Amino acid sequence: MTALVSVRDVHRRFGSGPATVHALRGVSFDVEAGSMVALVGRSGSGKTTLLNVVGGLDRPDEGTVVVDGDEVTGLDEDGLSRLRRERVSYVFQTFGLIPVLSAAENVGAPLRLARTPAADREQRVALLLELVGLSGHAAQRPSEMSGGQQQRVAIARALAASPRLLIADEPTGQLDAETGRSVMALLRAVVESEGVTALVSTHDPVMMALADRVIRISDGQVDA
Ligand SMILES: Nc1ncnc2c1ncn2[C@@H]1O[C@H](COP(=O)(O)OP(=O)(O)O)[C@@H](O)[C@H]1O
Ligand SMILES: [Mg+2]
Repeated sequence: MTALVSVRDVHRRFGSGPATVHALRGVSFDVEAGSMVALVGRSGSGKTTLLNVVGGLDRPDEGTVVVDGDEVTGLDEDGLSRLRRERVSYVFQTFGLIPVLSAAENVGAPLRLARTPAADREQRVALLLELVGLSGHAAQRPSEMSGGQQQRVAIARALAASPRLLIADEPTGQLDAETGRSVMALLRAVVESEGVTALVSTHDPVMMALADRVIRISDGQVDA
């Protein structure tokens, strides 16, 4: 297999002295390019910490993370910014859309950042809104959309700059079961149609069934 992500012996501790929380205790795994992997574990098991380390939002105390051939753990702040702008994108439980922007403007924001010409940007935004089933909602603001619609916008935004890796941290955690299922199915579909690799933390058995592989984490360690 070709690994898009390689995590090797990663440790992350928070705090110091007797109050130290050892959130990741020697985590290692690979994610195959083009696959969708579900990261499953109880609350507090280390899922968010691990996703943040993989996506370059946080640094481990020990160990290495390689994404798309680059050692994330060796990048300086500029390198991390570029990684997050160009190759890794996030979807959060709480959507994280910009309230004053329309759906189309939210989706186009990463392309503005990348200085994509306006005509190309508009074309890409229209295509992505269609992909997530929101063509008719381009002008609406987040407050005018349901939770499921907002998460669809967030997924479209995460795909805008054609990342290699999409990280989603409990993307259906705020949604009812049925809406959650349709968001999961959408993630599965975009992995295929956009050729992206996805690492998704979840409690949802439906997500686990849709994933190519399930990685279980408990108490900061990946189960063998
Ligand atoms: N910034 C932080 N400071 C201190 N402890 C933290 C911090 N982030 C996470 N932790 C602790 O690390 C452990 C793993 O947390 P987290 O990665 O958020 O788990 P999950 O996402 O699986 O619920 C928990 O014990 C949590 O309290
Ligand atoms: Mg979490």
